[in-house]
Amino acid sequence: MLPRPGVPSAVEELTLDPPAAGEIRVRMLASGVCHSDLHVRDGEWQRPGPVVMGHEGAGVVEALGPGVDAATTGLEPGRLVALAWVVPCGACRSCRAGRSWECPDSPSFRHGRDAAGRTRARRADGTDVLAYLSIGTMADAQVVPAAAAIPMPAGTPPAVAALIGCCVATGVGAVTKTAAVPAGASVAVIGLGGVGLSAVMGARLVDAGRIVAVDRVAAKLDLAAELGATDLVLAGPDPVVTADAIRTATDGGPDFAVEAIGRPATVELALEVLPVGGTAVLVGMTPQGERAGFDVYRFVDGGRRIVGSNYGSAVAAVDFPRYAALHLEGRLPVERLIDRRIGLDDVEGAFDRLRRGEGLRSIVTF
Ligand SMILES: NC(=O)c1ccc[n+]([C@@H]2O[C@H](COP(=O)([O-])OP(=O)(O)OC[C@H]3O[C@@H](n4cnc5c(N)ncnc54)[C@H](O)[C@@H]3O)[C@@H](O)[C@H]2O)c1
Ligand SMILES: [Zn+2]
Ligand SMILES: [Zn+2]
Repeated sequence: MLPRPGVPSAVEELTLDPPAAGEIRVRMLASGVCHSDLHVRDGEWQRPGPVVMGHEGAGVVEALGPGVDAATTGLEPGRLVALAWVVPCGACRSCRAGRSWECPDSPSFRHGRDAAGRTRARRADGTDVLAYLSIGTMADAQVVPAAAAIPMPAGTPPAVAALIGCCVATGVGAVTKTAAVPAGASVAVIGLGGVGLSAVMGARLVDAGRIVAVDRVAAKLDLAAELGATDLVLAGPDPVVTADAIRTATDGGPDFAVEAIGRPATVELALEVLPVGGTAVLVGMTPQGERAGFDVYRFVDGGRRIVGSNYGSAVAAVDFPRYAALHLEGRLPVERLIDRRIGLDDVEGAFDRLRRGEGLRSIVTF
């Protein structure tokens, strides 16, 4: 539980109300530690607290609130579900246009407060405790909107289902859905955490041509090669050298440059390496308020494009089971992203490792 952004999280015993109408109770099995949790933990994004962190989780359905019909939703008790961090509001301009992943009015952004302002979780002293993105997956159990719970195919490992809930949907979707990279096109992926490595897997899935993996940690490059990267670039202190290496691997620049870190300098690198007609796909999220710059003349004259990709343009109910099926067919080796399994009491340690760019996905198991 995070008392508020910018301070350490701690394990705490909370009480949890039963699910209300349209909600279910989930017993959590696995929760990934994503860099977006770290942005909140470090106070880089303004978010309310106290809050149960975590937005990359999977568990089993334990109880259904009033009005949730197991037969029509597939949410029968015992069923494995992956949790989605955007439940579309259904009414806004984006939802009406069929782009629910960018819904700005999602009830998920109330972080577990219902329309009456009540939360389901409480501290011993009665204080309301929020659930991050209304799923707060770093908890033994959680009450979530039924619409956030996506039934997964039989045999999906819970940790894989958890990662499908954020980094896989985000990275695979950025390449296959947001950018819709065609077969044979060249892709550079800058930053090889859970999100970037998923983008590498996505590029492989669509039969991209050259797939250039870029990171400042050599071990990440090795794994990227095993997941399908054709060229590896170890980013050093000089971005000019890194840019040259990416251009050399892609006949003058990649058709698509995916930024999966969230730093102005690497956003600028993604724009800088684009050839004429190339597209930068921005997936990494900076601290709020940061800006990046580019040479406008060159950008416009070369017909280049910048695309922001939120949640890999995921429609969770359709895409999550599809990614799980690809995993079960051996075409999306999500388990390779898992570095270590930890208890809730090591979440701060996992944040430290993420800060240092060390290791891959830590999975909290319960
Ligand atoms: N757009 C979305 O919907 C969405 C969803 C999830 C996460 N994110 C964001 O994506 C980003 C990546 O998330 P993650 O969990 O994979 O993070 P991560 O920390 O696991 O991975 C970041 C990687 O970037 C590398 N890196 C850092 N600085 C670098 C540099 N200067 N040059 C080269 N490599 C560098 C690190 O070594 C690490 O491998 C975060 O900003 C996160 O908030 C966005
Ligand atoms: Zn995430
Ligand atoms: Zn909406």
